[in-house]
Formats: sequence, C-alpha cells, structure tokens
Amino acid sequence: MKNTPIDYQIVSEEIAQSGIEHIGKATIREIKKLVDSIEQSSNTKFIRMEMGIPGLPPTEIGVRSQVDALERGVAAIYPDIQGIPTLKKEMARFVKNYMNIEVEPEHCLPTVGSMQGGYASFMTLNRMYANREGTLFLDPGFPVHKQQLRIMGQAYRSFDVYNFRGDKLGPKLEEFMADGKISSILYSNPNNPSWICFTEDELKTIGRIAQKYDVVVIEDLAYFGMDFRKDYSKPGQDPYQPSVANYCDKYILLISSSKAFSYAGERIGMLIISDTLFTTKAPDLRRFYGSDIVGTAFIFGSLYALSSGTSHSAQYALAAILKSVNDGEFDFVAVVKEYGEKAAIMKKLFTDNGFKIVYDTDIDQPIADGFYFTFSYPGFSGEELLSEMLYYGISAIALSITGSERLEGIRACVSLVKRTQFADLEYRLKSFHENHPLA
Ligand SMILES: Cc1ncc(COP(=O)(O)O)c(C=O)c1O
Repeated sequence: MKNTPIDYQIVSEEIAQSGIEHIGKATIREIKKLVDSIEQSSNTKFIRMEMGIPGLPPTEIGVRSQVDALERGVAAIYPDIQGIPTLKKEMARFVKNYMNIEVEPEHCLPTVGSMQGGYASFMTLNRMYANREGTLFLDPGFPVHKQQLRIMGQAYRSFDVYNFRGDKLGPKLEEFMADGKISSILYSNPNNPSWICFTEDELKTIGRIAQKYDVVVIEDLAYFGMDFRKDYSKPGQDPYQPSVANYCDKYILLISSSKAFSYAGERIGMLIISDTLFTTKAPDLRRFYGSDIVGTAFIFGSLYALSSGTSHSAQYALAAILKSVNDGEFDFVAVVKEYGEKAAIMKKLFTDNGFKIVYDTDIDQPIADGFYFTFSYPGFSGEELLSEMLYYGISAIALSITGSERLEGIRACVSLVKRTQFADLEYRLKSFHENHPLA
C-alpha cells in the first residue's frame, strides 16, 4: 500500500470495477467515466487532462444569435442540408481572410461537428474509385477517425510522421502511395496529440504527392490558428494559417468550431470542399450514390443519410461568430491563447519533477505551447504511467491509442486544468517524483 495523493485502495477498486482490461488501451471516453467515478468515491478533484473539451466559455455572440434564431422559430424548420446562405458566405470569407484560399460559398458546408465532417469525407472520398481501399493517416492522430473507418469497413494505413519530418516526408509518402490503393490522406495541423506543425515545405510535399497520385487531402484544422509562435489573428493579412490548399487542388478542410470558438456543445463545424474536388466526376460513386459528382454525392448522398443537415439554430450562431471574426471585430485567437500560456507553465511543472516531453521538437525548433503536450517518465511505458498517475489524481490518455510509435508517452490536454489547480498539480507531481526517485 503506497502513500498516494488519492487513496490507493479507492483507485484500485474503481479500476477493478470499471471493467477496463488495460487502462492504457482505454478510449478517451472510458477514461473519462473511470475518473468521474474515482472523483466521486474519493471526493477529490482530479487534474483532468484526458479529454479535449474547451475550457473557456462559449463565444457570446454565437449564443446570442442562436437564442434569437430559436426565438424566431427556426427549431420547427428543417435546415437545407448544404447550409444556410449567410453561413456559407461567411465560411468562404473566413477561409479567404484567414487562409488566403478562394472557395465558392456553395462548396462550404456546415457539419455536425468536424467529427461528422470526417465521417462524411471518408464515406464519400474512399468510394470514388472501386480499385482503391482507404485513407493514409499521418499519425499520431485522433483515434476516433480510425474508428470511423473500421465502422464502415474501410481500410487505412498510417505511420508516425515524427520520424519523417522535412526531406524525409516525401519518400515516405511515396512508399504508401506507390501501389495506388490510397484515396485520401488525413492529418491534423497543429497535430493532436503531438502539437507538431507542418512547415510550408512539408505541406508543399504533401500537396505535390497528392496531386501526383490523384489523392484527396483532408486537412483537419481543429486547432485553427493555434500555433501561437505566429500571429494568425489578423483577417486579410499575412501570415495566414498554413494549408495544403495552397499546393493541391483536391482537398477538404475540416474547421471545427469546438476549440477555436469554444462551441463544442452545439456540434457544428465547417467543411470546405475545394472547387475542383466539388465538381470532380468519379463514375464509381454511382455504386453508392445517385450522382457521380463528388459535391452532389457528398451533400445529397452522405450528409443527407447521416443527419440531413446541421442544427438550424447552431448555423445562425456560427454565421454570427464568423461575421464578427471576418469583420475584424472579434479576435478569436487572442481568446484561445490562454491554452498556450497554461501549457508553458504546466510543461515546466512536469519537467521540474523528472518528466520528459515526448514530442519535444518541431524539426529544428522546440515544440510550440498549445492545447496538448506529451510526456513520459523514465522507467514507465505510457500505459503503465497512465494508470500509475491515477493514484496521483492526474488523468490523461496513452499515446499508444493515437498511432504513435512513442509508447513511453502520454497525452495531456491543458484546456480543462484551471490556473487555480496549478499548486495542486505541482504537489501531485512532486509526490510522484518522490515515490519514483530517479537514479
Ligand atoms: C484533431 C481533431 N479532429 C476533430 C475533432 C472533433 O471536432 P468536433 O468537436 O468539431 O467534432 C477533434 C476534437 O477534439 C480533434 O482533436
């Protein structure tokens, strides 16, 4: 029996009762449920770092516009699947203002979170050609995306991109493309969980290879503008959020509202289909859809079948948020900067107590401070560390479930940790360090 910040007996019993066979292999939602029960039985608050929930209030202008829309009665009316015109117009303005990318408003679609955007993208794109099999993931990544493919019976390949940065990326991508079985490539940038950010050269490489093999790139921008080493906050001004859209013509951009606008609860995201992809004809789509045109199959096939559109009132919310952002009245980047500031402090608390940052460089620079960071402790695998940390009142997820090859690592999400908890975090990390002295 060890002397740990959370009663040893209680944690052990709760783990046993959870029915989770290996804590390290548990999904994010399973860990959340287990930690909820330990918190309840031990009557102690955890430092919750397992789930990427925004830790900030929802964007006020969105809430007000959504309430107005509800009061006007939109709840009674089915929204058009392709989205309300004002939102589509603001989405096109947003990508022009913040990415310098031109896309027709017609090709900008709301989805039920980026999660649905990803699902609909795999569903449609991986059916464009009968002789292709699925998606290549540039890992580490968000585990649910692979679950989406498994559910549909689609294939995927993946590799940990950390070992193939810079000039090594091109040859590695060619390896996966050579047999012509890949239809789409997905990565998140900034990357969840490692927080690496692709350079312009790397995006150029991805775009060039996608073009060469006629593969669609799905760029997941869930953490839009959050590489705080650059200031992406000014509409219509350099620097712009980097994107593969500058280097290929068949792409989909997934821009979540969950983190950028703290609007996770309303499940609304933006899905931008490039003009070229939208009008591309792929005859094999006819196996599943009434049309062989990608944009039509996407909207009137996949999105219709999945949810028949996105919450009507939430569309008004997002339209209003985007309008104020596009007009330069609301600086959303300034609001989410809080995540980067907290990350810098929290990372120091970890490293001062014997922990190491796992993904610690971005090619030749220290990794940026943002929504996530990754850590390890000498002598522990990530899975062992994750379960040991539960006795210290700290919850996270193992990197092994993200396709990472760094099996010693854990992902920490800074968003839910309040600054008022830093003293507690420090005490718990010190206590871990004392109980696991390093030589
Ligand atoms: C990389 C990545 N993609 C997609 C999502 C899902 O976004 P949404 O809440 O818009 O469905 C998340 C959420 O954590 C994420 O981290």
